[in-house]
Amino acid sequence: VITKVLEVGNRTVTTHFILLGFPTHPGFQMLLFFLFLATYLLTLLENFLIILAIRSDGQLHKPMYFFLSNLSFLEMWYVTVIGPKMLVDFLSHDKTISFNGCMTQLYFFVTFVCTEYILLAVMAFDRYVAICYPLRYTVIMTNQLCGTLAAGCWFCGLMTAMIKMLFIARLHYCGTPRINHYFCDISPLLNVSCEDSSQAELVDFFLALMVIAVPLCVVVASYATILTTILRIPSAQGRQKAFSTCASHLTVVILFYSTTLFTYARPKLMYAYNSNKVVSVLYTVIVPLFNPIIYCLRNREVKAALKKTILCKRSGPREDGAVIN
Ligand SMILES: *[C@@H]1O[C@H](CO)[C@@H](O)[C@H](O)[C@H]1NC(C)=O
Repeated sequence: VITKVLEVGNRTVTTHFILLGFPTHPGFQMLLFFLFLATYLLTLLENFLIILAIRSDGQLHKPMYFFLSNLSFLEMWYVTVIGPKMLVDFLSHDKTISFNGCMTQLYFFVTFVCTEYILLAVMAFDRYVAICYPLRYTVIMTNQLCGTLAAGCWFCGLMTAMIKMLFIARLHYCGTPRINHYFCDISPLLNVSCEDSSQAELVDFFLALMVIAVPLCVVVASYATILTTILRIPSAQGRQKAFSTCASHLTVVILFYSTTLFTYARPKLMYAYNSNKVVSVLYTVIVPLFNPIIYCLRNREVKAALKKTILCKRSGPREDGAVIN
């Protein structure tokens, strides 16, 4: 008991971190503030419109669009965990974040990243069933299965993040660590910890392997099968139609996986490079901005629904009833 007390007494408890952010001169900070503010608001608006369009258009009440709406919902939270704090830091001189604030940000960010990996794999599986088993699609992808899959994504994301946090929050940090990043991410935190973090790193690596590699295999297997099926379709028109439904999803998958893979597969290694911040801006700001655009520009049905939503011409329940699928 005595040694424990002494140990705690010796340690300075870290109550705050300092986020260095983007150290540039004030004028440029202002420019970045407005740029990121516009990007943040635009991302929220785009995703909000997609959710609204899918909700209000009866023709879009299909698994693929339910999952798309889940993705938009997820991305709204994903950018919100990082955006507001980053924007405030551009303007204020006090760039501190409390220990609990930092851990909360990390917890939710990791949750959303993990959920997105799994959700993208579920969406690939949905496309696989739709293209390879078109006649059995509605029998396989029931509302119940979709609901289970969607809930499963969130559950796995929350659980993975919780386990990672158990190891990272327990680490000892000295004084008020200066984090060379603009939000609390795993690798910057591991780097400022002043005790051996190899156990946390190992857990992080193992979980990253589970949460990245398994969904990635599902995605690759789904698209390999889809591609061989599409190539066997005799008519060029049929081939194009089948391909167009998954091209946008494939683009989003490649963007998200390629920008986050290196950061989350080897956190400590990645942090050694200063380019880490630039890569992080890609997947926390730029990719979420373009995802909805990629989906809407490529998808005729979403575009039509969006037009209806924006012009306030919502299809009422009667009109929906008249639509024969
Ligand atoms: C997520 O997907 C489930 C299952 O398809 C659906 O019931 C739910 O409404 C979706 N949630 C959102 C926010 O889109």
